[in-house]
Amino acid sequence: MNTGTRGSTVRPYQSYVYAYPHKTAYRPLADRPALRELWAAEPKDALSLYLHIPFCEVRCGFCNLFTRIGAPEGLVTAYLDALERQAGAVREALGEGARFATAAFGGGTPTFLEAAELERLCDIAEKGMGADLAAVPLSVEASPATATADRLAVLAGRGTTRLSLGVQSFVDAEARSAVRPQRRADVEAALARIREAGIPVLNIDLIYGIDGQTEDSWRRSLDAALAWRPEELYLYPLYVRPLTGLGRKEAGDREAEGDAEWDERRLRLYRSGRDHLLAHGYEQVSMRMFRAGHAPAAGSGDHACQTDGMVGLGCGARSYTSALHYSFDYAVEMREIRGIIDDYVSRPAADFARAEHGREMTGDEARRRHLLQSVLQAEGMDPAEYRARFGTDPAEDFAAELARFAARGWLDPDAAPERLRLSAEGLAYSDALGPELFSPAVRAAMAAYDLK
Ligand SMILES: C[S@@+](CC[C@H](N)C(=O)[O-])C[C@H]1O[C@@H](n2cnc3c(N)ncnc32)[C@H](O)[C@@H]1O
Ligand code: SF4
Repeated sequence: MNTGTRGSTVRPYQSYVYAYPHKTAYRPLADRPALRELWAAEPKDALSLYLHIPFCEVRCGFCNLFTRIGAPEGLVTAYLDALERQAGAVREALGEGARFATAAFGGGTPTFLEAAELERLCDIAEKGMGADLAAVPLSVEASPATATADRLAVLAGRGTTRLSLGVQSFVDAEARSAVRPQRRADVEAALARIREAGIPVLNIDLIYGIDGQTEDSWRRSLDAALAWRPEELYLYPLYVRPLTGLGRKEAGDREAEGDAEWDERRLRLYRSGRDHLLAHGYEQVSMRMFRAGHAPAAGSGDHACQTDGMVGLGCGARSYTSALHYSFDYAVEMREIRGIIDDYVSRPAADFARAEHGREMTGDEARRRHLLQSVLQAEGMDPAEYRARFGTDPAEDFAAELARFAARGWLDPDAAPERLRLSAEGLAYSDALGPELFSPAVRAAMAAYDLK
């Protein structure tokens, strides 16, 4: 375990910073600003489009994403109708010059939609928003049971370049223990269908730190994944969060293992997983992401949705301008999620022309975001780019934080001054380092949300 300068122990798994600020720091926007004004002065020639599908066949024990189990009769159609209304309102607000450089369908599980519904989703992106799906990178998330041949054929036909499959574990007992009901045979069959569909990039998500998982069984999952020669692999440390199935059920078991032991086990599994993938010719892109040598040249880094200029459609999607991040309300608890989805599908088009919930990127937030987005990547940050963008020096703006990280051995001294780059240890501690860069205001807003 890493010890700080004062001998204190730093816990490695605090939070996954996949976007800054986190949605729990968003608040209702009193004046409900018009999207037309928010977007008026923004560059719109290379936007990212994100469509969120908040449906899954099951609710996995570890998952706190914004999604519900199944959809009663008519809800998927009503959701697509609402997406179409939202697309119309948002496109009008963006104006003539909007061009999309990337697109993604996420969730939940976008492949929960049937083939004809996926066609309609693609039509909303193309005809509704004007994205040329055949010409830009299109990434889609899927689960094994929903990755059926007919749905994959639609996605491949409409230009999907990356299919990300949540596998979590190839060991059936581990899937059960994570409350992820699936069998390895079904996972293998789904992978065969994805390869058959000919989508250029396959990503496989795996989780380490599951109860009962050992270094051996982790290696078996990694090898089972490697057998498919995936272009990308994401290795996620298990987080057990409040209000999730595991959070409710396993509080007692976790105490039995002890937090410190669990941290140590996840760190060991991280290191052995990382070394195994590096030995198989994979490049480490971030703590979680690994890219194969045979993968097509990357268009974007770890999570394209971190760039400015994001247009999100759907009730769980975020949108980003340089001055404001916004979305609809957010929840983890199932009843609240269902309420937010029902509310979303009943909205008239005019509602979608305004931002309701969000956080302004005032003060030094853009600097923090820039640093977080780049320093958590294995290649690190170019200080010259930061200086060109903000006119200040990151070494001065973040002197205290960087001194602390250096004292803990989290920075690579050989990379300086050309790059600000994490050491191998720093990358391993990404989920502790990231939250230390949050502003006091964001930290306070997140803490207040947790107390709700
Ligand atoms: C939207 S899901 C992927 C697609 C699809 N819904 C599925 O589960 O197959 C995003 C990924 O985040 C990871 N994930 C979500 N919650 C997690 C948690 N609490 N701990 C670790 N990984 C988690 C899982 O690996 C999951 O595949
Ligand atoms: S992990 Fe994927 S399939 Fe499971 S509940 Fe979360 S989004 Fe749905």
